[in-house]
Amino acid sequence: MDLYCVMGNPVEHSRSPRIHARFAELCGQQMDYGRRLVPLGAFAEHIAAFRREAAERGDTARGCNVTVPFKFDAAALAQHTSERATLAQAVNTLRFADDGGIHADNTDGIGLVNDIERNAAVPLQGKALLLIGAGGAAAGVLGPLLDAGASRVVVANRTVGKAVELVRLHAAIALRQGAALEAWALDEVPGSFDVVVNATASSLAGDAVPVNASVLRPGGLAVDMMYGPAAAGFMAWAEAHGATARDGLGMLVEQAAEAFEIWRGVRPPSAQVLAEIRAELAALAVAKRPAA
Ligand code: ATR
Repeated sequence: MDLYCVMGNPVEHSRSPRIHARFAELCGQQMDYGRRLVPLGAFAEHIAAFRREAAERGDTARGCNVTVPFKFDAAALAQHTSERATLAQAVNTLRFADDGGIHADNTDGIGLVNDIERNAAVPLQGKALLLIGAGGAAAGVLGPLLDAGASRVVVANRTVGKAVELVRLHAAIALRQGAALEAWALDEVPGSFDVVVNATASSLAGDAVPVNASVLRPGGLAVDMMYGPAAAGFMAWAEAHGATARDGLGMLVEQAAEAFEIWRGVRPPSAQVLAEIRAELAALAVAKRPAA
C-alpha cells in the first residue's frame, strides 16, 4: 500500500485525511492517508520514522502534507524544492521519490488561485487584488496570485516593514507579469479592489477586520483563508459592505487536489469534494446547535 499522511502539531482537527480518502475513492487510487502528531523539534526524525515503519510493514511511504509549525523544517529536509516553495519560504507537500530523494512543494497559493478562478469563477487576469497580512500564510500565496495575472497587487500589514519585505521578495515576479506590486500600512491602503484576501490571524484574536471597508468594490470578492468560526467575522463584514464573501474551505480542498496530483498524477474532482465537505460541515453545525 502507498502511504501518505499529514504531519503537524496540533493535527487532530485536520480535514486532509477525509479529503484525500475521498479523492482516492473517486479516482480509484490504492492508498492510505493518515495523520501524525509530530513532537515539536522532531520533524526530521518523524519523517524518517514514517518511512521506516511503512517499509517494515511492507508498505511504501510516498509523501506527506506538512502543516504548522513544520512548514519551514520541511524545506530544510528536501533535496529538490520547487520555485513556488522557495519563494513562499515554506513547504506544505513532500514527495518521496523512488530514488529516496525528497521533493518539496507548496500548493497553498495555487490552491487559493484555483478556488478563486474555478470555484468562485473570478478570473484574476487584469484584476486589482489586496492581500491583507504579511506572515507565513500571505507569503505562501503571493507568488501564485501574481502569476495568475492580477494587474495591481497590494500587500497591507499591521507591521508595514513585513509587507515591504514580502513585496521586495516578489519584485521579480511582478516585473515578469507586468503587475504593480505595492506595500502599505493597513489604514493607508489607497483605492478599492476586485478581490480582497484576508491572510491575517486577526479574527483568531477576536479583533475587528483591520482595513477600511472602502477597499471593497461592490460585487467584488472577499476571501478569508480560514474557514469555520475563524472566518465568520471577515465574511460578515464583507457581505455587509456589498462584497461576495468566501471562506478558505475551497482553498483547503484545492491545495489538497494539487498535492494529490503531484503524488498520483491524477487530477481529483475537487469541486465535487468541496461541495461534499461543505455539506458535511453544515450538517455538523446544525447537529451542534442546541434545540430550541
Ligand atoms: P500565519 O502563518 O497565519 O500567517 P503569522 O506568520 O504569525 O501567521 O502572521 C500573522 C499575520 O496576521 C501577520 O500579518 C500579522 O500582522 P503583523 O505582521 O503585524 O504581526 C497579522 N495579524 C495578527 N493579529 C492581527 C491583528 N489583531 N490585527 C491585524 N493584523 C494581525
